[in-house]
Amino acid sequence: MNNKKIALVTGANKGLGFETSRQLAQQGVLVLMGARNAGRGSAAAKKLKDAGLPAEFIHLDVTNHEHIKTAAREINKRFGKLDILVNNAGMSHKEESLTGNSSGTISSRALREIFDTNFFGLVELTQKLLPLIKTSDAGRIVNVSSILGSLAIQGKEGGISEFKPFAYDASKTAVNAFTIHLAAALAGTKVKVNSAHPGWVRTDMGGPQAPVMPDEGAKTSVRLALLGPDGPTGKFFQGDEELPW
Ligand SMILES: NC(=O)c1ccc[n+]([C@@H]2O[C@H](COP(=O)([O-])OP(=O)(O)OC[C@H]3O[C@@H](n4cnc5c(N)ncnc54)[C@H](OP(=O)(O)O)[C@@H]3O)[C@@H](O)[C@H]2O)c1
Repeated sequence: MNNKKIALVTGANKGLGFETSRQLAQQGVLVLMGARNAGRGSAAAKKLKDAGLPAEFIHLDVTNHEHIKTAAREINKRFGKLDILVNNAGMSHKEESLTGNSSGTISSRALREIFDTNFFGLVELTQKLLPLIKTSDAGRIVNVSSILGSLAIQGKEGGISEFKPFAYDASKTAVNAFTIHLAAALAGTKVKVNSAHPGWVRTDMGGPQAPVMPDEGAKTSVRLALLGPDGPTGKFFQGDEELPW
């Protein structure tokens, strides 16, 4: 068995995924950087490798069943385990904006597109990798969600609940449901499953007004990826703060 920790981060070619990969690699974790575009993914991995960090590109569109199968097969063949899965890949849709409420207008097509990436792909990948994660001494699954997917917060008036891009928010609510259900299914094992909210982060998705920089935003995923044996499971965090579902 390989003693080095192995992580897979999806959507790792830019934004929070890239930063999460960098910070995990700085902790000595070998990071497989998933990206759907081979050129962008290889370039991102090269950036970390050139800085002396342990990182490799892995071709992974989370909506592609063949990519998922091949990734699982390769990880099994090379390492026989997976210690950390950060389900970071995600999308918003041009049919909706952060500040609008799209619940009465969003097309079924847009709704399906968002769910394909943010939810169905995430679940399929996690299920496929689960046997390898269970083989780890300290399996950690981090589902990158959003505070906008919190029903407790969306159900109140004011503040962040004014932001209602429906398809995006609902996909993250579904991710949170997966976190709770999978954590319950894995209770009593060494695997921990948590949801992460990175904050409003200045990435292509977050936009130029976002107040949090990616290195700060990535810290929540990194913390949950490296939780010790007494750490929480089945919870939702921003930094150290637990968020309501
Ligand atoms: N930024 C924020 O304020 C914020 C707040 C809360 C939650 N989040 C969540 O944080 C995560 C990362 O977002 P970000 O802000 O870093 O956004 P970003 O800069 O737009 O990066 C998104 C990443 O996901 C990848 N991706 C999209 N669809 C994919 C697919 N089908 N298969 C594989 N990779 C795919 C993108 O690849 P390409 O480069 O090929 O498009 C890119 O690498 C997302 O889950 C997002 O919902 C972000």
